[in-house]
Amino acid sequence: MSRAVCPGTFDPLTNGHLDVIGRAATMFDEVIVAAGVNESKNRLFEDSERVEMLREVLASYDNVSVDTFDGLLVDFCRARGAVAIVKGVRSPGDYEYELQMARMNRRLTGVETVFLPAAPEHTHLSSSLVKEVARLGGDVSPFLPASVHRRLLVRLGL
Ligand code: PNS
Repeated sequence: MSRAVCPGTFDPLTNGHLDVIGRAATMFDEVIVAAGVNESKNRLFEDSERVEMLREVLASYDNVSVDTFDGLLVDFCRARGAVAIVKGVRSPGDYEYELQMARMNRRLTGVETVFLPAAPEHTHLSSSLVKEVARLGGDVSPFLPASVHRRLLVRLGL
């Protein structure tokens, strides 16, 4: 049984995240999507709402579950018996940053990181940019699952 963790902030989940999670679900027997909570980052959505959105969107994936984690990602992976962390990579800049974390995580507990190149149609996507564009009146519906888009508009009072 191979189990992987797809970690992230998911504030909110984008179609780019969804693509990576779906691809991970074809590579591993089980995938745990792990939303980081209680970190210092400013969030638009509460922890509980980020998890709710993930569960709504991922309900149809039989081998994908959603959970939260606090503290070190490697501790969560070890507790869940995950052999790999899966991350999407959009650019060389992403890779530089992710590579250092991957090496540190491997050094800490031996957990491997698998990088999936973001699909070309998603390389411009990030949760932060989507929020900024939406706040300034741009149409972000092509970038988000429909239920997430609805919640984003409500949250931004649009
Ligand atoms: O969606 P994000 O913001 O890129 O997700 C980042 C996240 C939550 C995956 C990353 O910040 C993380 O792994 N945080 C857990 C804390 C940790 O383990 N830090 C040491 C990394 S080597």
